[in-house]
Amino acid sequence: MSNDRIIFFDTTLRDGEQSPGASMTRDEKVRIARALERMRVDVIEAGFPAASPGDFESVKAVSEVVTDSTICGLSRANSADIARAGEALKGAARSRIHTFIATSPIHMEMKLKMSPDEVVEQAVAAVREARRYTDDVEFSAEDAGRSDADFLCRIFEAVIDAGATTVNVPDTVGYTLPVQFAGLISHLKNNIPNIDKAVISVHCHNDLGLAVANSLAAVDAGARQVECTINGLGERAGNASLEEIVMALRTRNDYYGLETGLDTTQIVPTSRLVSTISGFPVQPNKAIVGANAFAHEAGIHQDGILKARETYEIMRAEDVGWSKNSLVLGKHSGRNAFRARMEELGISFDSEKALNDAFARFKDLADKKHQIFDDDLQAIATETDLESRNEPYKLVSMDVKSGSGETPQARVTLWVRGEEVTRTASGSGVVDAAFSAVKLISDTTARLKLYSVNAITSGTDAQGEVTTRLEKDGRIVNGQGADTDIVVASVKSYVNALNRLERGAPTHPQQSGV
Ligand code: KIV
Ligand code: ZN
Repeated sequence: MSNDRIIFFDTTLRDGEQSPGASMTRDEKVRIARALERMRVDVIEAGFPAASPGDFESVKAVSEVVTDSTICGLSRANSADIARAGEALKGAARSRIHTFIATSPIHMEMKLKMSPDEVVEQAVAAVREARRYTDDVEFSAEDAGRSDADFLCRIFEAVIDAGATTVNVPDTVGYTLPVQFAGLISHLKNNIPNIDKAVISVHCHNDLGLAVANSLAAVDAGARQVECTINGLGERAGNASLEEIVMALRTRNDYYGLETGLDTTQIVPTSRLVSTISGFPVQPNKAIVGANAFAHEAGIHQDGILKARETYEIMRAEDVGWSKNSLVLGKHSGRNAFRARMEELGISFDSEKALNDAFARFKDLADKKHQIFDDDLQAIATETDLESRNEPYKLVSMDVKSGSGETPQARVTLWVRGEEVTRTASGSGVVDAAFSAVKLISDTTARLKLYSVNAITSGTDAQGEVTTRLEKDGRIVNGQGADTDIVVASVKSYVNALNRLERGAPTHPQQSGV
């Protein structure tokens, strides 16, 4: 690969999933993986196969459907994890095993209780073991940002000798500063004798809001792989955001002179999909993908834009896919047109029944809102997928009453493990009343941590997309629901969160040492 080409390694499905409440099902991961493949992401980290049977199945499913991107599975530096990753990746056209161990003094002493020599030995053994499954092996020095630079040189030299083809430098806790991180990358480049046999990669967290700045500084110093996520999703304050890095490299190509293989017009649709599935709304002023990223409010700016767009715009909205959400289908569109557009969006159906269910939803929605956009179709796919699962709770019907001077009331009927249960409750508004009715039915002790409503498309007939975050016994989940009626969307999202709480909690790689 040319030294002027930046490899994009997307970890939305692994590190992104470590955001509180963002855990995704296998089918949701497959949909996101397909969108990343359409964007021509080089490497997709699909999960951590040893974490749970669900994570294993997701990596396996992604490996079986994605052909154009390399599929990567994370593993700690031990043979059991590596074997599990190797097994999950068997069906991939191109596979990578990503193994890691911590290298900072605090992690080695306090977490691993291992000496630096033992850490090097274990890293080398892990890389050798991983090479039995694939020629493409990445080694990460967890907490490299707070590790000793010479120790990093020593361990990277040893793992490259053992067969690592990528050495990753994670700023795990988001501690480094751009100038310092660039210095670290230069040090590694200049002091590891066999560095020409591996790609230097970086993986930055955003605790100080510097993840993108650190990644770009590292690229300037010679890193040629960046690890990032869509919308900057990830542990705590998140990871470096893919869309910001690629657009910085592209918009400032005069400075960087580097290439990427990405199709940037897929950015906005992919961002929308990740937001819907993860339940993490995108803030309006978020660079590139926020609703206001290309909106000009000040009269003086609008005037300038009309005279010459470049006066205030450094990028074209259509280059990142803002115009992609075009009207695609309407009330009179048939089943074949519906299926074809869904397939173009990477959504396939396991059975005729699933297709028929989704099509019935589409017809129902087209009756209510006439114009159906790609984002509506994504919401239909999410709803159909949720509906098809054998979940404990399901919304059957609801009605609400409110008016000036009246106490809002809601009557909700849920299907609860095979039987219908109805309850009525009042509240400070109809959503509050409806949530109280659901609480009475489910008898849940979960606490509501977040409630947010977004319009999926524009217009007052748009579907509302609601995220409800619940917390129970330290576990956090996000539920989603979409409907043209936002009270119905709210109840659907609450019910979805309750169902997610009932599913097992995934384990995350960095919670359990080696
Ligand atoms: O932040 C981190 O250190 C990680 C590693 C597993 C690469 O996510
Ligand atoms: Zn990370």
